[in-house]
Amino acid sequence: MTSARPATWRDRPMAQGIPWPDLEAYEAALETLRSSPPLVVPLELRALKTQLAAAARGEAFLLQGGDCAEEFIRIRPDHIQDTLKVLLQMAVVLTYGSARPVIKVGRIAGQYAKPRSSLTEVIDGVEMSSYRGDAVNRPEPIAEARRPDPQRLLNAYQKAAQTLNLIRALTKGGFASIERVHAWNREFVIDSPVGESYAELERQIHGALGFMRACGVDTSRLPAFQQVDFYTSHEALILGYEDALVRQDPETGGWYACSGHLLWIGDRTRQLDGAHVEFFSKLDNPVAMKVGPTMKPNELNRLIDKLNPKNEYGRLTLITRFGADKIVRHMPRLVRAVTRAGQRVLWCCDPMHGNTFKSESGHKTRHFHHILAEIKRFFDVHRAEKTVPGGLHFELTGGDVTECLGGGQEIEDWNLAERYLTACDPRLNAQQALEVAFLVAEALKVR
Ligand code: PEP
Ligand code: CO
Repeated sequence: MTSARPATWRDRPMAQGIPWPDLEAYEAALETLRSSPPLVVPLELRALKTQLAAAARGEAFLLQGGDCAEEFIRIRPDHIQDTLKVLLQMAVVLTYGSARPVIKVGRIAGQYAKPRSSLTEVIDGVEMSSYRGDAVNRPEPIAEARRPDPQRLLNAYQKAAQTLNLIRALTKGGFASIERVHAWNREFVIDSPVGESYAELERQIHGALGFMRACGVDTSRLPAFQQVDFYTSHEALILGYEDALVRQDPETGGWYACSGHLLWIGDRTRQLDGAHVEFFSKLDNPVAMKVGPTMKPNELNRLIDKLNPKNEYGRLTLITRFGADKIVRHMPRLVRAVTRAGQRVLWCCDPMHGNTFKSESGHKTRHFHHILAEIKRFFDVHRAEKTVPGGLHFELTGGDVTECLGGGQEIEDWNLAERYLTACDPRLNAQQALEVAFLVAEALKVR
C-alpha cells in the first residue's frame, strides 16, 4: 500500500543520518516493520490535532514531558508508571491554574533516537560512533557497543508497543482518576519538605472538587474524571523507521506516520530542504518542530508554509528552546513574523534545551531557576505580542534523580553525582517537576 505514496524525502539531504553498517539487515528490519500493526491510528491523530488546534487558539493547554532518551532497560512498569503519574499530577494542577483542558503528551513509547552535536567520538584512542539512542546502539564506550544495529529498530517497536499498552491500560483503567491524582498531590504538599509552599493552591483544588461533589457531581461515575486521553511523542529522527510505520487511513485516504501521536522535528534536523521537513510535509499528522536561537524569521515563515500548507490550526506546534538568557532577544521577532504572515501555529515552550551547561563537577546539568525564568519570559513575550502561550515541554522523570540543580530540595553541584541516571540530558525529578507545575499554575491564576 505504501508504494503509492511519493517518498520524496529520500532524495533530500538528511542531517543526523545513521551509518548502518549492514544495509541488508537494515532493509530486512524495515520490511518487518512495514508488515506490523501501527502503534497508533489516524483517528487518534485527528483527535489530537483537534485538541492542539484548541490550544493554539488559547482554549486548551499542552503539557509534554518525559525522558530525554528512553532506555530499553528501563521499560519497566515502575518507571513508566512513575513518569505517567508525575505528568498526571502536573496536568491537574495546570488544568486548575489555566482553567483549560490540558493535553497530556509523554516523551514516551518511542523516544529512543538522539541527534548529537558530534556523530563520532574518540575514546582511548579509538574512534567510534557516538551513542545515538537505544534504537541505534548501546551507550558503553566500546566500539562494538556503538555499532548501529538494525535489530534495535525492531526492539524499539516492541518496547514502544509494550509501553503504550501499559499506558493505555493505566489511563483507561482507573489509575488516572481525578481523586487518585489529587490524593497524590495532597501527599506531595503534606509530606514533601518543599510541598508546604504550594498548600494554598492545593487547598483551592481540594475545595473545587468538594464543591462539585456537594452539587451532586459523582466524579466516580463520570468518565471525564476517571479516564484521561494520554498521547505519546518522540523526535522523528530515523526516517527509515518512521517511514516503515506510515499507514494510509482508509477513511480519508490520508497518510499518517503511526509510530506515536505527536512526532517532532529536532532543532538539528529542521533544514528547509532537508529530508525530515520533506517527510512531514507529505503526511497528515499533527507535527511539532523545535525552534532554537539560530532560526531566522524568514526561514521560520518558509518552514511553516511547507509544514502547514493549508494553514490549519493544530497541524503545527512550534517548540521554542532558546535559553533563559536568549529568549527575549530571539523570540519576539519570530512571533511577530509568524503573526504578520497570519500563520496558525501552537507556541510551546521547552525551557530545558537552551539552558544546559557543564557544572564544575563535570555534569551536564540545568538550573531550576533558569528553567523558570525561560517559562516566565515565554509568557511575557506572548502577552506583549498578544499571542497565545499554548504549552510547556519538559525533560522529567517520576523518580528522585539528582540531575538538575536547585528547586525546593536545593540540589547543588556536589549532589549531582548521587543519583545522576539520565542516558542523555538532565531531567527534572518528580518534586522539581511538580514544583514547576504549581509555580506556573499560580502565575496563570494571578493573570
Ligand atoms: C531533545 O528534545 O531531546 C532535543 C535533542 O532537543 P533539540 O532538538 O531542541 O536540541
Ligand atoms: Co534532551
